[in-house]
Amino acid sequence: MRVVVAPLRSFPSGERRIVEAGGRSIGVFRVGENFYGIRNRCPHQGGPLCLGHLLGDAVADAPGQARIASDPLRIACPWHGWEYDLDSGQSFMRTVAPGVRSYGIELSRGGSLGPDVRAGTPSKRVPGPYVAETFEVRVEDEYVVLHA
Ligand code: FES
Repeated sequence: MRVVVAPLRSFPSGERRIVEAGGRSIGVFRVGENFYGIRNRCPHQGGPLCLGHLLGDAVADAPGQARIASDPLRIACPWHGWEYDLDSGQSFMRTVAPGVRSYGIELSRGGSLGPDVRAGTPSKRVPGPYVAETFEVRVEDEYVVLHA
C-alpha cells in the first residue's frame, strides 16, 4: 500500500505526521533529509508510540561541545518509557546505570592533586524483547510517500 503523506516542501525536518494505512496508525518522521516510518502502537502494551519524544545520544567531541547525535535516533513511548530505534524498531531498556563517570582524587606526597580514574563504566543500552513495526518512506516526485 502506498500513501502520500505530504508535499516535501511542507514537511520540514523535525516534524512528524501520523497517518492511517490499511487500518494501521503509522508515524512518519523527518530528521534532516532522512524519513522514518514506524507503527503508532507500542509493542509493550499498545501505547501511542508516535506521540513520544525523539531521543538521541548525548555526545561531545571536546569539553564544552556537547550535542545530541541524530544517529541512532530513538522514540520514547509516552506510556512507560520504552525506547525504540526509529530505523529498526528495536526496543531498548532505559540505561541500567547513570551515564556519568566518576573520578577519585588523591593527594600526592608532594602536595599536588592528581586524578585517579576509576569506576568509569559508562552506561549501555540493553536491547529489549520488543520490536516495533517499521515502514519504508520515500520521496517521490516531491512528495513524501509511505509504503505500508
Ligand atoms: S505501552 Fe509503550 S512502553 Fe508500555
